[in-house]
Amino acid sequence: MRPPIEILLSEEMIRARIAQLAEEIAPRLREDVLLVTLMNGAFVFGADLTRALARLGKPLTLDFMVLSSYGSGTVTSGRITTRMDLSIDPTGRQVLLVDDILDSGNTLLMASNHLRDKGAADVLTCVLLDKPARRRVPMQADFIGFEIPNLFVVGFGIDYDQMFRELPFVGHLRAS
Ligand code: IMP
Ligand code: MG
Repeated sequence: MRPPIEILLSEEMIRARIAQLAEEIAPRLREDVLLVTLMNGAFVFGADLTRALARLGKPLTLDFMVLSSYGSGTVTSGRITTRMDLSIDPTGRQVLLVDDILDSGNTLLMASNHLRDKGAADVLTCVLLDKPARRRVPMQADFIGFEIPNLFVVGFGIDYDQMFRELPFVGHLRAS
C-alpha cells in the first residue's frame, strides 16, 4: 500500500524557484561549464534547471552520474559507491553539480571530491532541497532551492523505495 502524501512544495512554487535559481547561477557560469546531474533522484530537477539556464542563453554540456548508497527505506548508510561514472572528461572544466537533497552531506561531498579528483577545475554545487538539521559532514551547497525541515520527502524525482518519483510536486510521507 502506498502511504499518504502531503504536499510541501507545489508545482508552481518549484517552477518559480527554479527560474530564480537559474538567474542566481547564470552569472557564475563560464562558457565551458559541464552540468552534472546525480541520478536518479535529481533527474527531474536537473532537467528543469538545465532548461531554465538555457532560457537565459547559457550554453551547457550535460553529463550524469549514478551513485548509490546502501540500504533502502528512509535511512542512508553513509557508504556511497559510483555505479555509473561521467562519460565526459571534466579535466580543467568548471562543473555545476546538481543533486536533489542535501541531507547528511555525504553524497554531495563524495561526488564533488570525485569530480575534483578527476581534474575538474572548479565545482559549484546546487541542490533542490537542503535539510541543514541532518548534516553529518561539513558540506554546504553553493545554490539551494528550498531549505526544508527534517521530513522525509518524495516527488519531483525523489523516491521512497522507488515510489513517488513521478509526482510533479514535493510532498512528505504523512505519519499514519
Ligand atoms: P546524504 O548523502 O545523506 O546528503 O543524502 C543525500 C541523498 O539521500 C539524496 O540524494 C537522496 O537520494 C537521499 N535522501 C535524503 N533525504 C531524503 C528524503 O527525504 N527523501 C528521499 N530521499 C532522501
Ligand atoms: Mg540521491
